[in-house]
Amino acid sequence: MPSQNSSRNKVILGLQWGDEGKGKVIDQLAETTDVVVRCQGGANAGHTVVVGGKKTVLHLLPSGVLHPKATCIIGNGVVLEPKALAEELAELAASGCDLRSRLLVSDRAHLVLPCHKALDRTYEAAKGTSKVGTTLRGIGPTYMDKMARTNLRAGDLLQADFPARLRAHLTAQNHLVKALGGDPLDVEAEIAALQPHLAVLKPLVADTAAFLHRAAAQGKTMLFEGAQGVLLDIDYGTYPYVTSSNTGVGGVITGSGLSHKELGEVIGVVKAYTTRVGGGPFPGELDQNAGGKGDEIRVRGGEFGATTGRPRRCGWLDLAAVSFACRLNGVDSIALTKLDILDVEAEIPVCVAYELDGQRLDSVPASISELARVKPVYEVLPGWTTSTVGVSRWQDLPVNAQKYVAFVEKITGVPVKWIGTGPGREATVCR
Ligand code: IMP
Repeated sequence: MPSQNSSRNKVILGLQWGDEGKGKVIDQLAETTDVVVRCQGGANAGHTVVVGGKKTVLHLLPSGVLHPKATCIIGNGVVLEPKALAEELAELAASGCDLRSRLLVSDRAHLVLPCHKALDRTYEAAKGTSKVGTTLRGIGPTYMDKMARTNLRAGDLLQADFPARLRAHLTAQNHLVKALGGDPLDVEAEIAALQPHLAVLKPLVADTAAFLHRAAAQGKTMLFEGAQGVLLDIDYGTYPYVTSSNTGVGGVITGSGLSHKELGEVIGVVKAYTTRVGGGPFPGELDQNAGGKGDEIRVRGGEFGATTGRPRRCGWLDLAAVSFACRLNGVDSIALTKLDILDVEAEIPVCVAYELDGQRLDSVPASISELARVKPVYEVLPGWTTSTVGVSRWQDLPVNAQKYVAFVEKITGVPVKWIGTGPGREATVCR
């Protein structure tokens, strides 16, 4: 049976390849939330929130930080880079948001150390043309180290032998960097450079699972914020062109320490078209060259990575992939973002299924060579060719925009409860 307060809790997941606009959705929902929890990924994420016209990009910190009432948790499933944390906290403090009294970092969260970033660079360089196109934030090598049962965790900082273990670990990992042909680190210089960042982290370390269990018992409202998207999931994404964590509801459970009974409503965030950054198959990818349709959408949608600045690859909305992500995660409702970016289109093709060798598929194939060969089946919807920018009431949306939303509901079988019509908080239709 779900817990009594689970009906107030919410899970926010990206249902595409990341960059769906989760930051804005989370930021709005956090307003009525007591506790905001990040459960997986690390500083590879880039959540952009615009408040009072000021843009803030968060990589490691939960997007709920901008609400002074919310306690923010970095859960055990997150891989945490001390330098990234310290820098992000300093940046927020400089703009008047001092988070230290309401941020907790799990003692079980694994540390991203300089050796992991060096290994990320080394593995990517070794892959040549088949590189994943990672964010080079050390995410994959840290999860490798976690699974190998050799890494250091945030809680280790509180132990007297931490300095010795850090030195030994960096030295051992440095051998690996060298053996793989990478640029070795100066271990002592790295240790010295880490000290101020570790000093920022240390007082924030806590048993966050125990904190969340208490919060659940007290009936506090919780929001679990996913990073990346379901199509980048280590198990169900387009492996090996994926990130190294579970980006769906499974990652929320293992990465927070709360049971499935506490999860509440699962909200899937879907951009009104599709983007992908980095390598890997992308059915229906549009022409990304200057002047091509993909390039046009990229420019109009400002589709450049929030973490790396890389141009994102663009395509029409892919509901075959989104429906797959909904099924995998029991998605209860959809938040459809950036509808206004389609305002100028006279006709909008939407992918409703994949065909492979003339056969219609009812799922997304595991094999990337098959996925690279699938043919998207499109239905073409009429556009609305009217500005929807800033619209905040359903009845003010043009009829064809309403039909576009209804089409998403029909194909996915999931209600669209929230529609984004611009970057600011107020540019939102709630249904
Ligand atoms: P990693 O997570 O840095 O290892 O990168 C693995 C893949 O996930 C690459 O294709 C990245 O571009 C992609 N990726 C990681 N984080 C994000 C994100 O927050 N948004 C979009 N793509 C991401």
